[in-house]
Amino acid sequence: MQLVVEGLPTLGIGLGFRPQFKAEVFLNRDAIEFLEITSDHYIDSPPKKLEELQLLAEHFPLIPHSLELSLGSAEGIDEGYLSKLADIVSIAHPAWFSDHICFTRSGGVNIGHLAPVPFTEEALGAFVRNVDKVKKRIDVPLILENITYNIDYPWNEMSEAAFIRRLLEETDCGLLLDVANLYINSVNRGVDWRDVVNELPLDRVVQLHFVGAHRHADRLIDAHADTTDDEIWNVFREVAVRCNIKGAILERDENFPGFSEVVAELKTARELLNAEGYVLS
Ligand SMILES: [Fe+2]
Repeated sequence: MQLVVEGLPTLGIGLGFRPQFKAEVFLNRDAIEFLEITSDHYIDSPPKKLEELQLLAEHFPLIPHSLELSLGSAEGIDEGYLSKLADIVSIAHPAWFSDHICFTRSGGVNIGHLAPVPFTEEALGAFVRNVDKVKKRIDVPLILENITYNIDYPWNEMSEAAFIRRLLEETDCGLLLDVANLYINSVNRGVDWRDVVNELPLDRVVQLHFVGAHRHADRLIDAHADTTDDEIWNVFREVAVRCNIKGAILERDENFPGFSEVVAELKTARELLNAEGYVLS
């Protein structure tokens, strides 16, 4: 059986679009092969934001990345949100779109946080049902991202990687592998990230996220506020060469550097891959 991810186009190395970068992304068009937009920034937004989205779509390949589908919610999908997300996806006209392996809504309340799902058969069943509903509404390949988390539920029945494998096989979705999240979770649990990677379905990795990790005492924090460091570049390179990725996105949300630093990070990503004989464009 051909996986849905096998037919996807290669987009290259790109950037998570933030309003702070609006002028610079156009001034540095040659350095940015595609943009990831946060779908939620355009849902229920004023007309000016939708104009921005249309402008971006005219000049860049876009990938919508959403925060609030809450695919892990046992209570099911918020149909209103799904419908609004479908509108954003149709404007962006993407090769794929993405959300997270998490839940953000429980008992009808938005918890304002990407919370981990329990790695259980029951949670897997609910997640698969929710993805099926999304796929019926949005006819574009969906890829799912690994998050950072601080809770290891005592009732987990399998590892995170085993859960991700089952989830992607049962939904035929791709994996958006955030190498910073992978590294942060591994360091904070005292495990080797390579052991986690060996358990993941690498044939389903479509896209990577990368950014530096923030150290606080003896833990790493997923703050999207730091320049990509050598350890995470190493994870990026080792993971990329084992997968057939179609794109990688620098995901910076805070402590914004000058744009020349952003461009330099995109260049480093390309050079690391090229040095391995891996051309992504
Ligand atoms: Fe990410």
